[in-house]
Amino acid sequence: MRVAIRKKEKAAKAPKERRLITVRDYERRAEALLSKMAYDYYRSGSDAEQALRRNVRAFRDYVIWYRVLVDVAERDLSTTVQGFPVSTPILIAPTAYHKLAHPDGEIATARAAAELGTIYVASTLATTTLEEVAESTSAPKWFQLYVHKDREFTASLVHRAEAAGYDALVVTVDTPLLGRRIRDEKNRFDLPNGLVMANLVAALADRPDDSSLLSSYVAQRHDASFTWADIGWLRSLSHLPIILKGIVRADDAARAAEAGVSGIIVSNHGGRQLDGSPATLDALPGVAQAVAGRCEVYLDGGIRWGEDIFKALALGARAVLVGRPVLWGLTVGGQAGVADVLRLLTNELSRVLALAGCPSVRGIDRTMVARG
Ligand code: FNR
Ligand code: LAC
Repeated sequence: MRVAIRKKEKAAKAPKERRLITVRDYERRAEALLSKMAYDYYRSGSDAEQALRRNVRAFRDYVIWYRVLVDVAERDLSTTVQGFPVSTPILIAPTAYHKLAHPDGEIATARAAAELGTIYVASTLATTTLEEVAESTSAPKWFQLYVHKDREFTASLVHRAEAAGYDALVVTVDTPLLGRRIRDEKNRFDLPNGLVMANLVAALADRPDDSSLLSSYVAQRHDASFTWADIGWLRSLSHLPIILKGIVRADDAARAAEAGVSGIIVSNHGGRQLDGSPATLDALPGVAQAVAGRCEVYLDGGIRWGEDIFKALALGARAVLVGRPVLWGLTVGGQAGVADVLRLLTNELSRVLALAGCPSVRGIDRTMVARG
């Protein structure tokens, strides 16, 4: 099925023959392929988009104090996350609605992660059921959970994820309601006919009419009263390790570690929630220090170059997650496009390791970066 929201290939503005060798190239090509409504949804931040810009800019504020005369003939980019070996410290962030980008949707994304030996975090708001995603690869994968007011429904999502073989729960904690995306409001962003929030069909059975309008779904269904006191309940639902996504404060990070979570993703939702939030790279050192090794710390937001990943790892992240770059890859080439984006970022990181005199991602230390 070809999803109508993509422009006809012919109408694409970008010249076909140009090689796509950076994330920026992929974004330009994807912009040409997508309808305005879909592109705007993927690209946008909230309100004045300050956090979106701040995330990207923060990486430019750091420089790498490279070492010389180190044997960098071989570089090792592998590490582990939650005990799972990954060939690259780049995971795929949970993002909604992959069939807007490509008819193969989330299955293409999951398979690309498996191809690269890394982890895909499947979103609650996927256009493919979590079971179908799980069946599409045997690689480890994580499930991102939005906590709904309907606790039984929330519990059923967790049970489904565990039964389907997911290896961790990524609980997003920065979305009690949806940030205001001005373009989506102007475009009246909605899922086109034929696409559904596949995991939520049961929850929507009673109110099918407003099912696809994202902001009203979140306002009506997400539990804005979910607090630290409920983390124990969440932990009791399954044996899955819990990773909290969307923390920027050191005191929240310390509290999460005390609550026994297995990981923290320093994230401001790609600048789509609180527009006044800090750049995630600026939040990272405080979080890493507060956690003091009690759980793993990851970062997402604004990663567009291999150098960005190096800086995040130097400031305390064990791995990073990428959101929009994966959506651009998916739009351009389905599974192959996502795999290519992951590969190009990995190759960039490998080059940076060589030039920085640091042959292993696990050997990147705090002294290697400083504000420029
Ligand atoms: C997101 N993000 C997100 N996060 C989440 O926990 N569940 C979700 O369903 C979504 N959906 C979503 C859709 C789109 C279009 C975007 C761009 C982002 C946030 C995502 O996981 C991640 O935090 C950011 O995308 C990271 O920033 P970059 O890499 O896009 O700059
Ligand atoms: C978004 C939600 C769905 O950022 O997470 O669009």
